[in-house]
Amino acid sequence: MVKAAVLGASGGIGQPLSLLLKTSPLVDELALYDVVNTPGVAADLSHISSVAKISGYLPGDDGLEKALTGTDIVVIPAGIPRKPGMSRDDLFKINAGIVRDLVKGIAKYSPKAFVLIISNPVNSTVPIAAEVLKGAGVFDPQRLFGVTTLDVVRAETFTQEFSGQKDPSAVTIPVVGGHSGETIVPLFSKATPAFQVPEDKYAALVNRVQFGGDEVVKAKDGAGSATLSMAFAGFRFAEKVIRAAKGQAGLIEPTYVYLPGVPGGDDIAKATGVDFFSTPVELGPNGVQKAINILDGVSDKEKQFLEVAVTGLKGNIEKGVEFVKNPEAK
Ligand code: NAD
Ligand code: LMR
Repeated sequence: MVKAAVLGASGGIGQPLSLLLKTSPLVDELALYDVVNTPGVAADLSHISSVAKISGYLPGDDGLEKALTGTDIVVIPAGIPRKPGMSRDDLFKINAGIVRDLVKGIAKYSPKAFVLIISNPVNSTVPIAAEVLKGAGVFDPQRLFGVTTLDVVRAETFTQEFSGQKDPSAVTIPVVGGHSGETIVPLFSKATPAFQVPEDKYAALVNRVQFGGDEVVKAKDGAGSATLSMAFAGFRFAEKVIRAAKGQAGLIEPTYVYLPGVPGGDDIAKATGVDFFSTPVELGPNGVQKAINILDGVSDKEKQFLEVAVTGLKGNIEKGVEFVKNPEAK
């Protein structure tokens, strides 16, 4: 039996993500939580003739407790999205408190659940979640994930003309670092099957993966950021976490994790100098089975991108940790 919960289920990501989870045969029970509209979203999804039993909760009447109790996997897309001209860090002021409070609920009502954080800025909201779970004495780093799958999905899509794959997802491209601008580092040199990006196209391609989110924010022109592609990516990642928990082996996907707390993470922390980093991770029954270090043998250009990424990440991580220790300072 798998119970999944979506926190922020009525939003642009929350609704299509809940739809995908509702239609997945891997999910037996699906709880939707939001500050608005969950009764309607749940009623709508409940007419779908799939396995999952669906329920919707609002904050009143112990809604968060009811949504989280007995939950195996919690996905969090709660929080405000960007408008043109904003950085993901501009969302910190509002989203930091939202994520902190929701994770406090997880610590209390479903401390053993896998926690998948989508809310931006991911580079900081995942450290916030880690600090909250640590403070409550229930932090299991193998079960906390920052969802960076959309960067991988974009890298697969934007390189299709070079990889020559009919199905862009047939190529594996590790994207490492964080989830915002220059902290996103696609490692095309490590793609399998290997392909060549022409020299004169390389810089623009890296830039497009790093700033793909801005492309959508601009096109939506004030109506938010990526929602449908994010729901696809979030579901792809959640499905792998569930499949691995059920015993399927060999499932690997990059995700933003707390390196010192996961097997294989120490080497990567030493190589990068940061504690939180997105790296390909082999998933297992208990979450992160092994963080895979693919930084050896990257190209000189990729090394330069990684240096810039790490500098940005350090500040983002510190900001998240500091927010939990000293919330009044923000
Ligand atoms: P949205 O505004 O459409 O939806 C957000 C939902 O969160 C709303 O329904 C809102 O009511 C709800 N919410 C707000 N406060 C809440 C709380 N305290 N508890 C429960 N629910 C609450 O936004 P969206 O487009 O769905 O984006 C959500 C977040 O995901 C944003 O922060 C966005 O930047 C981020 N995002 C991340 C990625 C990624 O790759 N990780 C990709 C796209 C978007
Ligand atoms: C994305 O990468 O699309 C998301 O992080 C949303 C954003 O703000 O760009």
